[in-house]
Amino acid sequence: MKARQLRMKAVGNTAINDLKIDKKFDLSSKIVVFPGDTKELINVLPSNSIKLIITSPPYNLGKEYETRVALSKYIEQQAAIISEFSRILDEKGSICWQVGNYVEDGEVFPLDIYYYNIFRDLGFKLRNRIIWHFGHGLHARNRFSGRYETILWFTKSDGYTFNLDNVRVEQKYPGKRHFKGPNKGKLSGNPNGKNPSDFWEQIQSEWDQGIIEIPNVKANHPEKTIHPCQFPIELVERCVLALTNAGDRVFDPYMGVGSTIIASIKNGRIGIGAEKEIKYIDLAKTRIKNFINGNLRTRPIGKEIHRPSDKDRVAQRPIEWQTGQGTLSNHPTK
Ligand SMILES: C[S@@+](CC[C@H](N)C(=O)[O-])C[C@H]1O[C@@H](n2cnc3c(N)ncnc32)[C@H](O)[C@@H]1O
Repeated sequence: MKARQLRMKAVGNTAINDLKIDKKFDLSSKIVVFPGDTKELINVLPSNSIKLIITSPPYNLGKEYETRVALSKYIEQQAAIISEFSRILDEKGSICWQVGNYVEDGEVFPLDIYYYNIFRDLGFKLRNRIIWHFGHGLHARNRFSGRYETILWFTKSDGYTFNLDNVRVEQKYPGKRHFKGPNKGKLSGNPNGKNPSDFWEQIQSEWDQGIIEIPNVKANHPEKTIHPCQFPIELVERCVLALTNAGDRVFDPYMGVGSTIIASIKNGRIGIGAEKEIKYIDLAKTRIKNFINGNLRTRPIGKEIHRPSDKDRVAQRPIEWQTGQGTLSNHPTK
């Protein structure tokens, strides 16, 4: 019910059902899906017009949408694009830059270390390095399996927008009380929930292991498309709700299938994105239209996660392991 009410929120004074998708940026645009190089869109965005820049950039891993180049070249190319961000960002604005690792010949280069220097040199201030942890993924043979990526949250100034109350999460122990001092015996938690912290967890599917707040967008997820590196809408929503106000503009320079735009209009913000691959552009438009028409399956923000109980088969040691039939050679990568 809550998700439905959010979906019906207007963007500015435009009712959600009347939203249309513009190809080019205009001051009155509520949704922009720019088909082309992000640099071209950035160049026409007015100064101080964007409240939040949020993205997962290409990682230079040779995915289907990128040409792999030397790491130094990649960083140079990204720095040239990022150099315009200070101009387009509102004084109270933020940047959320979600990255993982670049890997070459088995050597790992954590991209956030390189990006930190780019943003810092441009005068942006780091507010959080959020760990986005997941309990699934490729199983490494020669090192420990990688199970987290990061989101660097920078602001342009010290007077940034931060709506903590919009993103509080349920207290784990709501009945906890102060055990000493002047407040002894009184409840110690905030009844509106607790700060979600800088450690965000996700899993592959809702029955998988671990503590889960934001499931990864994979096969069992209601939002899954053909894009190999899709954002869960819920993850973007947390940033949108905390770092912008209704009516603000949110910009994703590497939009993919439009997750940022959906998270933005769902919450009454203006969504702007650039994408160069036609198949993702088409998919983004279809998803946005489906959302506007109420036909997009999304995972509601804050939806309680299903955890297997000890009685569920998936949580039990399989019979093959107990009888020695399931040897390691049957599972060489794990
Ligand atoms: C990691 S993916 C982002 C996926 C996105 N977060 C989503 O939820 O779908 C990066 C995207 O950037 C696009 N891209 C790469 N270079 C670009 C450029 N110069 N201009 C516009 N889009 C670009 C790629 O085609 C790819 O879809």
